[in-house]
Amino acid sequence: MRELMTKLEQASGLDRIGDRLQRAVQGTLRSQRVRDALHGVWLGHPLHPAMVQVPVGAWISAAVVDLLPGQRRAATTLVGLGTVSAVPAALAGLNDWAALSRDQRRVGLVHAAANTVGLALYAGSLAARLNGRHGLGRALAYLGLSAAGGGAYLGGHLAYKQGAQVSQSVSDMHLIADGWHPVGDLTGLPQRELVTREIDDVSVILYRHGDDVTVMLERCPHQSGPLGEGEVQEIDGHACVVCPWHGSAFRLNGGEVVHGPAANDQVVLPTRVVSGRVEARLP
Ligand code: FES
Repeated sequence: MRELMTKLEQASGLDRIGDRLQRAVQGTLRSQRVRDALHGVWLGHPLHPAMVQVPVGAWISAAVVDLLPGQRRAATTLVGLGTVSAVPAALAGLNDWAALSRDQRRVGLVHAAANTVGLALYAGSLAARLNGRHGLGRALAYLGLSAAGGGAYLGGHLAYKQGAQVSQSVSDMHLIADGWHPVGDLTGLPQRELVTREIDDVSVILYRHGDDVTVMLERCPHQSGPLGEGEVQEIDGHACVVCPWHGSAFRLNGGEVVHGPAANDQVVLPTRVVSGRVEARLP
């Protein structure tokens, strides 16, 4: 299985379809507000994995209920709920997928294909049940569950092996020792400009506004872009750093993500000034 997954990650033959689909998704979901909503920016957490709980839960429940006598109506309701709720979950997943790296998109493409087959089988199952053909509906549902199970395996690989939509910066925190760390003299820091420094070999950005200094991890939570090379922009009245790679934006006064594709907040370190020296520590 490991070999198969490595081959899938390297399957450049999928890129032609993947690149076309990516352009189609980006061309369709043009509104930043819609994209942010689907990424889960408002939640501070990727939305797709939360949304898939509904179809997966309903479909697994239907598989159990289908084994019990006299539960046709309950099974039909669960299959219907799973099928309807899978559509917005798939939309959120497509939106995330379009902002992944190439190797992640290859696995994501097969993940989406397996889930699309599963969804089609469940739609067929629902239609059969509504027409009184419950035996066929059950068979299609079990086939759909198998396809969706394969899709879930690939989704797990994407998240846990390839780190898709997982915060890339949080592991940097484990490299910083406890206690306060000096990061520079307050008077030497320019006003409202990004400065890059290191704490225990972890790159951080400093942003001074008056006598307040923000110290934030430099590695972008989305895909490790260098926030220190990003721009500072005023968004909704807050100074934000905008990642130079894909445009995710984070508030400099708290780290909250305000624009995706990142859906996770950025880590901001508490600071203090001692004898004119700025110090930072782990939260
Ligand atoms: S690396 Fe993608 S937005 Fe920063």
